[in-house]
Amino acid sequence: MTTPTPSLLIERLRQPVSVEDRDAVIDLEAGSFTNPWTAETFDLMLATPVSRVYVARAAPGTEILAFCACWVIEDDVHINTVAVRGTLRRQGVGGTLLRGVLDGATARRATLEVRRSNVAALALYRKLGFEVTAVRQNYYANPAEDGLVLWRNP
Ligand SMILES: CC(C)(COP(=O)(O)OP(=O)(O)OC[C@H]1O[C@@H](n2cnc3c(N)ncnc32)[C@H](O)[C@@H]1OP(=O)(O)O)[C@@H](O)C(=O)NCCC(=O)NCCS
Repeated sequence: MTTPTPSLLIERLRQPVSVEDRDAVIDLEAGSFTNPWTAETFDLMLATPVSRVYVARAAPGTEILAFCACWVIEDDVHINTVAVRGTLRRQGVGGTLLRGVLDGATARRATLEVRRSNVAALALYRKLGFEVTAVRQNYYANPAEDGLVLWRNP
């Protein structure tokens, strides 16, 4: 069965970001990763010229349901992180957001790293056309784990 694509508004966050949006992204990180971004990391991502932070909402001005941060460097887009609220996973939100980010990036190639054990993310990335091209031993900490490097070519 294929997950239906939800109707989502995908928006690029730019400074100044509201306290609600900033807190929502930090909460999403904390609920999704063992080494979550701090508020300072989030601010740095927003301020970095090659960096873009995208969020998904059901409608303008409503709460953030998912977010994705990436760098766009010449022809490449590097997905740094993507997270969907726990209660909304497996409903097509992550796929819709990532497709929107990749389509809007105007980059030819896309890359990312993912924990070897992250079955959900790996399945999603493969569905979007990413392939594993390398393994970085002990790339992650807390817990230590290999990182898989994936690329998506045009
Ligand atoms: C990875 C993540 C972003 C996926 O978002 P999502 O909204 O649940 O994904 P989607 O519903 O769009 O799933 C699309 C496809 O991905 C695959 N997939 C997603 N979750 C899966 C799971 N738990 N198990 C197996 N396949 C899965 C499936 O192929 C799915 O299609 P299908 O439902 O038609 O079978 C989400 O699980 C998440 O936020 N995880 C925590 C943060 C994280 O690990 N981020 C990635 C590392 S940077």
